[in-house]
Amino acid sequence: MNKVDSGLRIAVVGLAGIGQSHLWACRGENNTGATLAAICDVDETTLARAVESHGVPGFNDIEKLLSNASCDAVVIATPPAFHAPQVTAALEAGLHVYCEKPLSPTIGQCRRLATAAREARRVLAVGFQHRFQKSHQAAVHMVGEGTLGAPYRIVLTGTNWFRPTSYFTSSPWRARWAMAGGGVVMSQAIHQVDFLISLVGLPARVDARAYRALHPDVEVEDDVMALLEYENGARGTLVVSNVDPAGVDRLEVHGNLGSLIAEEFTLRQATLSVPISEAVSTDPNPFGIVQVAWSDVEVARHRMEHFNMYLDSLRDFAAAAITGTTPTNSASEASKAIELINAIYLSATAGRPVDLPLDGDEYEQIYADLCIGRRQIGS
Ligand SMILES: NC(=O)c1ccc[n+]([C@@H]2O[C@H](COP(=O)([O-])OP(=O)(O)OC[C@H]3O[C@@H](n4cnc5c(N)ncnc54)[C@H](O)[C@@H]3O)[C@@H](O)[C@H]2O)c1
Repeated sequence: MNKVDSGLRIAVVGLAGIGQSHLWACRGENNTGATLAAICDVDETTLARAVESHGVPGFNDIEKLLSNASCDAVVIATPPAFHAPQVTAALEAGLHVYCEKPLSPTIGQCRRLATAAREARRVLAVGFQHRFQKSHQAAVHMVGEGTLGAPYRIVLTGTNWFRPTSYFTSSPWRARWAMAGGGVVMSQAIHQVDFLISLVGLPARVDARAYRALHPDVEVEDDVMALLEYENGARGTLVVSNVDPAGVDRLEVHGNLGSLIAEEFTLRQATLSVPISEAVSTDPNPFGIVQVAWSDVEVARHRMEHFNMYLDSLRDFAAAAITGTTPTNSASEASKAIELINAIYLSATAGRPVDLPLDGDEYEQIYADLCIGRRQIGS
């Protein structure tokens, strides 16, 4: 069997939570261009169950998989602390890699992995499947086309990540800096951070606070607020949380000509009767009002879009690996979210605003301290 017959032959490493979605995505009827060729998990029970279900060779160690399995690519779906060594080993074995988010907890390590993939001439993609969400793609297109004029304010509210304590006790790695790389902003809201960046790029300055509001026995933060300032004068806020049962998933972009509100899978647009810059400078009425026309943006959603995003993301990766092109979620593109999140942690830890581009070495030192408890974040 070769690549032409079977598409991209993929091994999945880490077979529990998100690994199950990848196993499902590789099924032939999903037509992603990828075929499941091997699997790996250190947990013997999880591995045995998956071997029985999927009928492909199983390995309890990635090194054994890399030496023995016949595959072209690997999906890494293990806890974040393992991503850098496993991605490196797979690239050295000549494989393309799809790594679950976060690629690595530090921007320095992400940059090194992106370089390693480039030098190995292998595709390295990251699990930001929301880049394939139809409403997100429509928003990126509209902002890019200038529909809103120049954005001047961005408001990200990602408080839809309520997690009880059992979330952390059921998979204890999620509570630890050294294993997870961070809390709510690194582990969950990273998808919204990536969306924000795909819309308006990285800010030039970040001033953040992070809290351990309701999970005192968890090392990582469960609540974050940040002010974002952009090179062109635009400004924004970011609020993300694990402690809001009534939380929302909403991103607002406000521009000189109108606004976009992305909420869950929907998109609404406001169009102004005159540009704000014109109304401010020419309206003779001291209490002048700009007319605002609201409309729903029609987005052709897939019937099962939540699942379909995984398929599109895998399809994009398989096509990039087979044709030698750059995937949508390339390592360098996906590293931008890590740079912003590291800046948030640096600012929250140091208690001061932080400028981007971020000094990767400085954050690596802070992160090492957080991992061994020499520094704390939040209360
Ligand atoms: N893209 C998404 O929406 C999304 C959603 C959930 C999780 N994730 C990411 O996927 C990764 C895994 O998260 P999860 O929730 O599936 O974790 P999990 O704890 O549910 O599963 C991890 C699996 O990896 C196995 N494992 C651990 N160390 C290993 C090693 N060294 N080699 C091989 N197998 C190993 C474990 O036995 C377990 O079966 C994390 O980086 C997480 O952030 C992404």
